[in-house]
Amino acid sequence: MTRVYNFSAGPSTLPLPVLERAASELVCYGNSGMSVMEMSHRSSDFEPIIADAEKSLCRVMNIPDNYKVLFLQGGATTQFSAVPLNLLTGSGKADYVITGQFSKKAADEAKKYGDIRIVASSADRNHTYIPALSREDFRPDADYVHICFNNTIYGTKWNYIPDTGDIPLVADMSSCILSEPIDVSRFGVIYAGAQKNMAPAGVTVVIVREDLLGRAHKLIPTMLDWEAMANSDSMYNTPPCFAIYMLGLVCHWVEETGGLQAMAKRNREKAQLLYDYLDSQDYYIAPVEKEYRSIMNVTFVTGVEELDKKFPKEAEAAGLKNLKGHRSVGGMRASIYNAMPREGVEKLVEFMKKFAAVNAKK
Ligand SMILES: Cc1ncc(COP(=O)(O)O)c(C=O)c1O
Repeated sequence: MTRVYNFSAGPSTLPLPVLERAASELVCYGNSGMSVMEMSHRSSDFEPIIADAEKSLCRVMNIPDNYKVLFLQGGATTQFSAVPLNLLTGSGKADYVITGQFSKKAADEAKKYGDIRIVASSADRNHTYIPALSREDFRPDADYVHICFNNTIYGTKWNYIPDTGDIPLVADMSSCILSEPIDVSRFGVIYAGAQKNMAPAGVTVVIVREDLLGRAHKLIPTMLDWEAMANSDSMYNTPPCFAIYMLGLVCHWVEETGGLQAMAKRNREKAQLLYDYLDSQDYYIAPVEKEYRSIMNVTFVTGVEELDKKFPKEAEAAGLKNLKGHRSVGGMRASIYNAMPREGVEKLVEFMKKFAAVNAKK
């Protein structure tokens, strides 16, 4: 069976060389005589695997020395609780920006633990833009400010890093991590479920500035406590070993293909292909305001419900899978993460042209 072009928002397509490498060592890893899936996480076979994954991620992302990288479980959603439980212990106030469903969920979760203010929301225009914010918009005594840097469902991305002064900025980067270089030092905490650009589902990465450890609520469950996890090198309990191994392989692939600068160039070119086509015609509508367009998740609609339903079905038959938009917005969404080859986007544009030609709107 041949592989399709998989436009899924997550879990998503992984680089073929990584899958092939994993397949080649699936049954017997190196000289261990066993699969990574069968190893004790405390064995001398696994230790170098997790250490290499961490080092590789630090190299690829240029993570400064005063940050800890944690490999956790529970998805990005668990971090919606972990963030307030680790940080909301000074004034008990935090400021959230709502730019879509995930940031709203994060804010709703945090409201259980303290005084959460919604600084701005893009809900008024169905999350098709990112609010413009400056330092004065945030409460000076807030324990942190939370944003979602790329909005997977709506296809928007922050085109700037908000200036929060001395207030730690916390960002959910689940759907854009590793897509382009990012100045980690501008953030107090970055977290991301790995299942889009980093690995299969199962591992969640938290990158936390060291001075933010040790502030946790006294009733925090140990599994959510970043300090406890940092002190045990992400091995307080059994970590998601195989997903961590895959994350290491993906980081090597990023390095081998030119690092994040080169990745960003390819990603921008892929996204441009699609947006240029969308801007050149009037059959499809791309709802997101141009300056906030995501280069990872591209959303579009035909404006006709029946055609929006037909499109993903026919695309699938043409080998282009998972193009249906999120159930809350409808239409189509093409997730074109790092591992989506340019040819996949070219094929999609070809298909869009054909679909428009044979499905005239009445
Ligand atoms: C931006 C963003 N945040 C959070 C989540 C939730 O992640 P998880 O399923 O790992 O909990 C997702 C999942 O798609 C996401 O795209």
